[in-house]
Amino acid sequence: GKTILITGVASGIGARAAELAGQMGADVIGIDVREPSSGISSFIKGDLSTAAGVEDIVKQLPNRIDALANVAGLSGNTGVTATLAVNFYGLRALSEAVAPRLREGGAIVNVASIAGYGWRANLERAKSLTTIEGFPDVASLVSEHGLKNEEGYPLSKELLLLWTMRAAHQHLFRDRGIRVNAVSPGPVETPILKQFRAVLGDARVDSDIMRVGRAGTSADIAPAILFLCSDGARWINGANLPVDGGLEASINADVL
Ligand code: NAI
Repeated sequence: GKTILITGVASGIGARAAELAGQMGADVIGIDVREPSSGISSFIKGDLSTAAGVEDIVKQLPNRIDALANVAGLSGNTGVTATLAVNFYGLRALSEAVAPRLREGGAIVNVASIAGYGWRANLERAKSLTTIEGFPDVASLVSEHGLKNEEGYPLSKELLLLWTMRAAHQHLFRDRGIRVNAVSPGPVETPILKQFRAVLGDARVDSDIMRVGRAGTSADIAPAILFLCSDGARWINGANLPVDGGLEASINADVL
């Protein structure tokens, strides 16, 4: 069987992706800072928000992994530093540390968001924050760049989308045929959505939902993650797949 590493398995999209991968016959290794309630064959409790936390996780991993799904994320309501650390720098540090253990032709899938839509408009800032190597002192970065708390979540996803495209062409991954792609959900009914409602307001979240008729569910997102992890996606690299019922299309085409 295939071995797939999935972060964020204690809740929402990560939990559903782990369940589905198990049903499809994969050996799932789940990672989360919280204990999952059930169903993960192998679980590593670990914190992606610090370099030491990532190192501790990597020490416990097997030497041969087929795919890594980076699903864990914070909503932004615990502050910009923690959000950038988990949603981008920790995710990237884990991916780079896992790369040598990924088999040739393996895959990495990053769960970004429609919230990262502004990556192109903010390209210069995103470039400067993604070209910093290693796991930086995120608190210092935040004060240097004067980043506000409410910017944390969208910025983390902008960085993730840009890095996904760059990583597809990074020697560490490309030289061994490791593909790097992203999935960008729209609003999905998971515990994080309540936090988005608190930060953005109900009106904003509901207008996005109204555009596409309903909110997504974890079961709408998980199959797209596993497809991009699979060999059937072997010629898809550096891509972002919106899984949002058409929300991004409606913005791009200016359809109300
Ligand atoms: P969730 O809150 O249900 O699950 C997130 C998981 O990440 C939790 O189990 C949490 O413990 C884990 N996590 C948080 N900090 C961690 C850390 N330091 N180390 C390890 N694990 C940590 O949320 P959901 O919806 O399942 O989110 C999954 C991903 O989907 C996130 O990256 C989120 O940004 C993204 N997303 C979610 C949307 C939604 O509306 N639900 C929309 C767009 C993107």
